[in-house]
Amino acid sequence: MLEIVHDFDEVVDRRGSDSKKYSLYPEDVIPMWIADTDFKSPQPVVEALVKRMQAGIYGYTPTSERLKIAAARWQKLRFGWDVDPAAVEYIPGVIAGVISAVRAFSQPGDNIVVQSPCYPPFSDLADHNGRHLLRNRLVRKNDRFEIDFEDFEAKIADSRTKLFILCNPQNPSGRVYTREELIRLGELCLRHHIIVLADEIHADIVFDKRKHIPFASLSTEFAQNCISFMNPSKTFNVPGFRTAVFIAKNPILKEAVHQIIVDNKAIGENICGTIALCAAYEECGYYADQLVAYLQSNRDYAEERLGKIKGVIPSRLEGTYLMWLDCRGLEMSQKELDRFFVDRVKVGLNSGTTFGPECEGFLRMNIACPRATLTKALDRIEAAVMSL
Ligand SMILES: Cc1ncc(COP(=O)(O)O)c(C=O)c1O
Repeated sequence: MLEIVHDFDEVVDRRGSDSKKYSLYPEDVIPMWIADTDFKSPQPVVEALVKRMQAGIYGYTPTSERLKIAAARWQKLRFGWDVDPAAVEYIPGVIAGVISAVRAFSQPGDNIVVQSPCYPPFSDLADHNGRHLLRNRLVRKNDRFEIDFEDFEAKIADSRTKLFILCNPQNPSGRVYTREELIRLGELCLRHHIIVLADEIHADIVFDKRKHIPFASLSTEFAQNCISFMNPSKTFNVPGFRTAVFIAKNPILKEAVHQIIVDNKAIGENICGTIALCAAYEECGYYADQLVAYLQSNRDYAEERLGKIKGVIPSRLEGTYLMWLDCRGLEMSQKELDRFFVDRVKVGLNSGTTFGPECEGFLRMNIACPRATLTKALDRIEAAVMSL
């Protein structure tokens, strides 16, 4: 069978298509903030959806066994991790699932540890649920962020710490943790009785022939102490369907999260989401491979161009399509930097301080767009910084 070749160069006009990304900034600003891609979803996903939508009846859905099998199969196929479909459960989104786990395994006043800079919904969910977020700050060594294990252990040793939210690949630093780093984190968590919530939503997108290692695949003990979260949304550009999964090999942990989900009536799958997830995970490995190759060349191109712009230092992206830019060399406050990018550069990025108080002077840039769009944005950054 001939492999489909996806056209990632195709520029799709997303305005008027219910896009959050394209609704925040004025029309003359290139939006490169929220983490969805500007690429069309794979053709098998589109065709499966069109076929089902033509039925004209969209009633309540039963629990989909096919969804569990497809998600388990993807873990085995892409990462070599054996998952029993019975360990998989539907959730409407990774963050909704993480919140359910936070409620299942901690009480108001307890601590949750994350690595910082951290994806803003982690701090929001701690705030909204009366938990304290403890930031284990990643330490920048040259262009790479590294884990401060001493600080990590001090934070998880606190008697009020109950959970560690591992984000790997890490948003926004772009780190893909090594086997050694994951084992060290996992052993410390076991020693201090800390449950690991592993957000692996960016797992498919790792560069330079790296392999993503599911945290729970590292040992039986880790698997028993962990809930893993996945969503095909980042890879296949289907976040609008609100369909993700969690994987829990420990039936006690699984049941505890399940109960919170049931209590919130957050059960009942989305017809489109289930179809998209199944078509993507069953038929679209080709798309994931081509996407990673395209993004890697976007990364190389962006790094090369940004490397020549004085005052802006991109971090080396090992995974994800979210580039973390150190703009402190431009000597602006965060507020001035944010305004400069929207008003003068005309490129809409995420503000650094939303990822942590230590991130003043940083920005996050989403490079999951056709090369023509990326080129236009980099031209604008170059010209505006030169004019300073
Ligand atoms: C690390 C991480 N986790 C979770 C999400 C959101 O997942 P969901 O839409 O499934 O809640 C994102 C989206 O950018 C993300 O980067």
